[in-house]
Amino acid sequence: MFEVKVPMTSANVACGFDTLGIAFQVYSVFDFELSDKLEFVNFEEEFCNEDNLVYIAFKKTLNFLNKTVKGVKITLKKQAPIARGLGSSATCVVAGIYGAYLLTESKINKNDVLKIATEIEGHPDNVAPAIFGNLCASCLVDNEVITVQYNVDDRFNFVALIPNFETKTADARKVLPKELALKDAIFSLSRLGIVLRSFENYDINTLKKVLADKIHEPYRKNLIYEYDEVRDICETVESYGFFISGSGSTLINIITDENKVEIIKEKLKNLKYDWKALFVKADKEGTTFEERNV
Ligand code: HSE
Repeated sequence: MFEVKVPMTSANVACGFDTLGIAFQVYSVFDFELSDKLEFVNFEEEFCNEDNLVYIAFKKTLNFLNKTVKGVKITLKKQAPIARGLGSSATCVVAGIYGAYLLTESKINKNDVLKIATEIEGHPDNVAPAIFGNLCASCLVDNEVITVQYNVDDRFNFVALIPNFETKTADARKVLPKELALKDAIFSLSRLGIVLRSFENYDINTLKKVLADKIHEPYRKNLIYEYDEVRDICETVESYGFFISGSGSTLINIITDENKVEIIKEKLKNLKYDWKALFVKADKEGTTFEERNV
């Protein structure tokens, strides 16, 4: 039996729309075991069938590897928050791919995992950091996925602010303009290289000045109830960067002092949407696995 642990991720990181993604030390965890039938354990009823995303990725990978198995038992041990912009579907996809490699004793090639995962997800910005960890910049060139990794200095502290409502990526893409003003594209593009170096060098003062976006955030923030209120709370308490996680609804705030999380939590209690504040560090390893005795 293999246990596969995949980090949650936050795509975009403000000005890196559809290219950047960062991995956090909060994980979805799944067990994979050979079986003589298809079995799901701990999944909600609606996911206990062949349309389960973990299983879709598992099956696609078996095809890619040219392998078959009689059946598989997939156990959900820990699930990242679903539809909150924290890469929960990427964790399912990457875990399913790993499960197929491991149960068929195939040698894992992370670049192939990335290729299969991107085909399923449709974009690499969550799956790349889920596989490799850290902060990844990715792009598609024809059908090839190109990803590079940037280190996130260990001193960085993040607070994931998670409300009790979902935003669907499809809806959050519909509100984006079809065309952009050149000045808005330059606004985001000119910040990107500086943001990456600031994460590597713990240059929080520069990050505070440049971490902003004009490609997606101005449109999407209107879909996130109490965005302004949460941002005000963070800026009053401490904020070295504030951005929408993926397509929302989670928001991410960068702090230096871990103790500030409790103050933010207290202030969030005055809002309507039951916001949770989760202290998180960047994940450096990406997906990991362990062999377990049954
Ligand atoms: N880059 C994608 C978007 C990520 O923001 O639409 C979706 O999770």
